Amino acid sequence: MRVFTLEKTLVLIKPDGVQRRIIGNIIERFEKRGLFVRAMKLMLLSREKAEEHYKIHKGKPFFNDLIEYITSGPIVAIILEGKDVISVVRGMCGTTDGAKAAPGTIRGDFCTGIQNNVVHASDSQESYKHEHKIFFSNDEILDYRYIDEELV
Ligand code: CMP
Repeated sequence: MRVFTLEKTLVLIKPDGVQRRIIGNIIERFEKRGLFVRAMKLMLLSREKAEEHYKIHKGKPFFNDLIEYITSGPIVAIILEGKDVISVVRGMCGTTDGAKAAPGTIRGDFCTGIQNNVVHASDSQESYKHEHKIFFSNDEILDYRYIDEELV
């Protein structure tokens, strides 16, 4: 019987991650860590949704470039579930600036920049609550069980 609560997080594989054909590599890392995939889609983000997603950064010097970049090509949106999944996934992504990200993290392995940094992951439960609605309707988030879910 599970003695801890599960939480969810939103991950985006950004346009540079899709273009570099590392979608599979990134998802494999999450699966091997034992996280549960609850929703996933390849999509083009509208400018309106991009601005809503990144509204906390509105007014910052990099905001316009960030919106141009995140809407420049397909992204993959994923909802993962697991124990402490928000901090686990943030750790797996590495620091925002890829140049400073530790080897072995997604950014540390794949990027050296701060804008084109391959992935986004929710930084808190509040962020997840705001973000997941931009990418998924409730019926797209599947409530199913892995056969080994109690063990992982
Ligand atoms: P993300 O984790 O998606 O959250 C906000 C994004 O803004 C971040 O990843 C980067 O892509 C981008 N970003 C953050 N800080 C900077 C910066 N100083 N210059 C350019 N882009 C940034």
